[in-house]
Amino acid sequence: MSNYTYMTISSKSPIFNKICDYCDKEIVQENLTINGGTLNYSGIIYDSDILIICFDKTLPVAFNSIVELDTCIYIYQIAVKNNYKRQGIGTELMQRAISIAKTKKKAITAHVRDYNEASNHLFQKLAFNAVEPGSNTLYVLETKKYKPGKK
Ligand SMILES: CC(C)(COP(=O)(O)OP(=O)(O)OC[C@H]1O[C@@H](n2cnc3c(N)ncnc32)[C@H](O)[C@@H]1OP(=O)(O)O)[C@@H](O)C(=O)NCCC(=O)NCCS
Repeated sequence: MSNYTYMTISSKSPIFNKICDYCDKEIVQENLTINGGTLNYSGIIYDSDILIICFDKTLPVAFNSIVELDTCIYIYQIAVKNNYKRQGIGTELMQRAISIAKTKKKAITAHVRDYNEASNHLFQKLAFNAVEPGSNTLYVLETKKYKPGKK
């Protein structure tokens, strides 16, 4: 069983900026280049509405930052610290985001760069549809139809 804990934090929380500082410095910085491409996402975490954080004891090791739009829940940035990858944390962070979208009766969307193999696989595994495939693919999941574990 995993020892990790997860917490959902609103941008209105008094600890939001402090958590953003830590995630930006310790997690985003490790993920600025992927397969030779650049994920130039430092700093955007501060503009999200909701953060889902994975903690190893007291330290954040991964986050999913979400923007709530009128039409959908948009995954702004998701990142896992290198030493914690491939343990199911990214999947758990996305399943929690999908639950939020379901509660709000909204679709959930994300953009993923073509060179970002891990992220493309993650969204495909979670049965997102690539509605605008290309160099920056738009993935959409209509949560009404989402059934965990099924494509
Ligand atoms: C994408 C990312 C969040 C996945 O996190 P993770 O915790 O490693 O993901 P999981 O362990 O839950 O893996 C889920 C699925 O993703 C896919 N995946 C993850 N890492 C992969 C890799 N290196 N290569 C290919 N597929 C990969 C697999 O389909 C995997 O399922 P499987 O283990 O059953 O094969 C992580 O690789 C990351 O932080 N990447 C850098 C930041 C980023 O690209 N963010 C997205 C753009 S905002």
